[in-house]
Amino acid sequence: MSAEHQTETAPQPLAGKSILLGVAGSIAAYRAADVCSQLGKLGARVTVCLTSGALKFVGEATFRALSRNPVLTDVFVEPHQERIAHIDVAQSADLVLVSPASANVLARLASGMADDMLTACILALPPGIPILAAPAMNTHMWNNPATQANVALLASRGVEFIDPGSGLLACQDVGKGRLAEVETIVSCVLTRFAQMQTMDLYGKHVVVTAGATREPIDPVRFLTNRSSGKMGVALAAAACARGAQVTLIAGAITATVPPGITLVSAETAREMEAACNAAFASADIFIGAAAVADYAVANPSAVKLKKPDAINGTLTLELVQNPDIIAGIGKRKVAGQVVIGFAAETDNLIPNAIQKIQKKNLDLIAANDVTAAGAGFDLDTNIITIIRRDGSSVALPLMSKHQAANRILDEVVTLLP
Ligand SMILES: Cc1cc2nc3c(=O)[nH]c(=O)nc-3n(C[C@H](O)[C@H](O)[C@H](O)COP(=O)(O)O)c2cc1C
Repeated sequence: MSAEHQTETAPQPLAGKSILLGVAGSIAAYRAADVCSQLGKLGARVTVCLTSGALKFVGEATFRALSRNPVLTDVFVEPHQERIAHIDVAQSADLVLVSPASANVLARLASGMADDMLTACILALPPGIPILAAPAMNTHMWNNPATQANVALLASRGVEFIDPGSGLLACQDVGKGRLAEVETIVSCVLTRFAQMQTMDLYGKHVVVTAGATREPIDPVRFLTNRSSGKMGVALAAAACARGAQVTLIAGAITATVPPGITLVSAETAREMEAACNAAFASADIFIGAAAVADYAVANPSAVKLKKPDAINGTLTLELVQNPDIIAGIGKRKVAGQVVIGFAAETDNLIPNAIQKIQKKNLDLIAANDVTAAGAGFDLDTNIITIIRRDGSSVALPLMSKHQAANRILDEVVTLLP
């Protein structure tokens, strides 16, 4: 294999880390199995603690098999007579994740109770061990002032919440309360460990674009693309975790933006260009991960187009070319600024990416074949090849977008003055 083109095995960013995964009595408890599995695949040693409520929804056997560890359910079960189990567990955890966190568990934690294994372990944690909680419950339970007061109290004591999402809930109510996506939960754990580890972007301003732009046809319709923004949000989250001040300029995204990131929304390519130009003035690093529409509708209608607007059954839209945002940024780049582009290709991946680097004056391109299995739009994973200005490249294996983001940032750090 040439020195320029290396392929790497999937890294395990959580290798050597111990996570206590608390699972409470929510209808979403089954999704903790996926969280447990993913944390294990990332290298973590996971110890699972099921509350009595959780045991009504899920069984020990699943979590024993997925974590390859005994499952904790009872504070009075002491496998080693000479030791106290909940103290041992508390002292060996690097991080606690309660997912899902029921309203009841939040109330018990807020009042400092230790009436089961999970709450006893959490109360016995040494100071400084991060506690992440991903609540899941009916929307009225979530909005109830009692729950909100418990959340506020726990947050003031340092518990970090992974906000529930909104939508149709299992109980058929619509509103906030749905457990965050598994990918978001795992990404928050990774981000938290990264924060504890490396701050190599401290003092840097990182500007990231993400998601799809929308080009209006009329007040209710638009032209767009399949981008979810997950890669851009993962980059923003990873840069933030490494100490950077991050501005995320986002079109339409489905990914959740973690706290600590300045979010600037831009709908059209032109709006995104203006936001990028404004933010780039103070940027050390610019990463263009958004899928910007190449064309906009020349004259969007001020009123909703109707069927009779078609002539002989055909409605013709005239398209005009949008600005090439990253090329514009490449032109404005001054010494000390680093500009990274993305190339989502369907063919001729590497030659196309190399051409883009030169043409747009970029420092690096992250190229991905959006047709490859496991790579591309709306997935939680990606297969990226990092291509440098000198044409050398590193082909990363299939990995989570969060991991890929950190690998790209590892490379970016080497380009900083
Ligand atoms: C079908 C069903 C679904 C439930 N879903 C939730 C839920 O999503 N979130 C929640 O906080 N409580 C939910 N509950 C109520 C909790 O299970 C109950 O408050 C329990 O005492 C929590 O136990 P724990 O504190 O041991 O986890 C649900 C109950 C039932 C019967």
